[in-house]
Amino acid sequence: MEINSASFVISSTELSKCPTDGLPEYAFIGRSNVGKSSLINMLTNVKNLAKTSAKPGKTVLINHFLINKQWYIVDLPGYGYAKASKSTKAGLHKMVTDYVIKREQLACLFVLLDSRHKAHDIDLDFIHFLGEEQIPFALVFTKTDKISKLEFEANLSDYKNTLLMSWEELPPIFTSSSVKKRGRQELLDYIGAINDSIFSEEA
Ligand code: GTP
Ligand code: MG
Repeated sequence: MEINSASFVISSTELSKCPTDGLPEYAFIGRSNVGKSSLINMLTNVKNLAKTSAKPGKTVLINHFLINKQWYIVDLPGYGYAKASKSTKAGLHKMVTDYVIKREQLACLFVLLDSRHKAHDIDLDFIHFLGEEQIPFALVFTKTDKISKLEFEANLSDYKNTLLMSWEELPPIFTSSSVKKRGRQELLDYIGAINDSIFSEEA
């Protein structure tokens, strides 16, 4: 699959304000600063489509980008930003969980994890929540340009072993580097395959 057009549509403060056209959507979530917005720019090949920042806590709204006039990429605020106030954290948490649980057209939620780190409780808790709620999701290990292959393999097997303690099957796993443009085609092809099955069911 290739992306031929990508345009910003709307930033929403809550689920009820999101687009109502029912097109399939693919959302990106993960800890603040993990590289969600950068990955979206890399996938779409549009430099500043999603706003990025070296400081965590940049994305604070639900942002819809229309792709190929057929489906959406959704940039979500990160979780686990320690410096945010309690009320900001609670507000963002409600916004994101509402979206994840109730958004029927959510075709896949990509959970981004920093490839440099071993499994963190906040990510594992979120992954467990997705499993319990039966939300379709995949994992994306980001920033692979910042770690050696060997170190990454160790972190990855740590993650897999931890997940296999609770689940029989592993979710689909991808790796990416927005700086080196790694992992782009694999992610786009995965999205393309899901879209094909959605659009053929509708036809
Ligand atoms: P919030 O919106 O705050 O939740 O963050 P985010 O997850 O959207 O992260 P963002 O894309 O804004 O990137 C955070 C920082 O990481 C920026 O300084 C990016 O340049 C950097 N970054 C993102 N992806 C990569 C990557 O693949 N490699 C490297 N080296 N840096 C990256
Ligand atoms: Mg962001």
